[in-house]
Amino acid sequence: HGYDLLVVGSANADLVIGVDRRPAAGETVLGSDLVTHPGGKGANQAVAAARLGARTALLARVGDDAHGRLLGDSLRAAGVDTAGILTGGAPTGVALITVDPSGDNSIVVSPGANGKLAPEDVRASDSLLRASRVVSAQLEIPLETVEEVVRNLPSGTRFVLNPSPPRPLPAEVLAACDPLIVNEHEAQVITGGESAGTPEEWAAALLALGPRSVVVTLGSQGALVADAQSMTRVPSVKVEAVDTTGAGDAFTAALAWRLGTGSSLPDAAAYAARVGAAAVTRPGAQESYPTAEEVEAL
Ligand code: RIB
Ligand code: NA
Repeated sequence: HGYDLLVVGSANADLVIGVDRRPAAGETVLGSDLVTHPGGKGANQAVAAARLGARTALLARVGDDAHGRLLGDSLRAAGVDTAGILTGGAPTGVALITVDPSGDNSIVVSPGANGKLAPEDVRASDSLLRASRVVSAQLEIPLETVEEVVRNLPSGTRFVLNPSPPRPLPAEVLAACDPLIVNEHEAQVITGGESAGTPEEWAAALLALGPRSVVVTLGSQGALVADAQSMTRVPSVKVEAVDTTGAGDAFTAALAWRLGTGSSLPDAAAYAARVGAAAVTRPGAQESYPTAEEVEAL
């Protein structure tokens, strides 16, 4: 395999403003100076994996504009193979992000070019799919494109999905996930269930939908990993949160990469929890991702 990980997903410019608190409907609040970071769940995953040392490629679409160039620079600097980055069709995706003093964020995404990443782009990238040990995806690109990835997955290639932002998923996609990685909100949307279940109940409900394995992320509480045989709680590392933006993407990328190198699901999740914890200690998404040495030091 030429790549440890192929990420199929979004690339956004993150326009970030720090706020004391978020405005209610009809309200205006003043915030900090605007900062523009490279982001997007797909590009974030690719940068996170490459920073850790994974041979990583990204299949994505950006606009022919300054935001697209910002993303290309960030991806290349991290060592991501950018041959699969397509240009044009719409402006680069944008995420409008507010971050509050506790490091929590709210995000509105304008998909732009991400929405034009089409099933035929997946078919045209067959050589990338064949060269990769693990393929990961998220839902800031059209669902048909994710479905095409699943249909074209070479046998023996592992598929990891973080269905964010969440929506109900076709059985064919669910069956391919190994694992499906969700937080509790995403678990609720995908199962169509009530809230307030335990993570173990969410995991059981998700497994019943067909994925081979499931990871329920629990923020500062770590994660729960589950397959047909067992459920295991994986602890997190206690850190001072500065900005949680993109920490979940770093978690998913690290987990996908470790699975491809032969780690068990609980071991891969424990490592990924440390990567996610490191990411919340610094501002931004991609710029906050640790190297393997920094993860060891944590
Ligand atoms: O998961 C974090 C990412 O979500 C941000 O980088 C933003 O672009 C949105 O896609
Ligand atoms: Na961060």
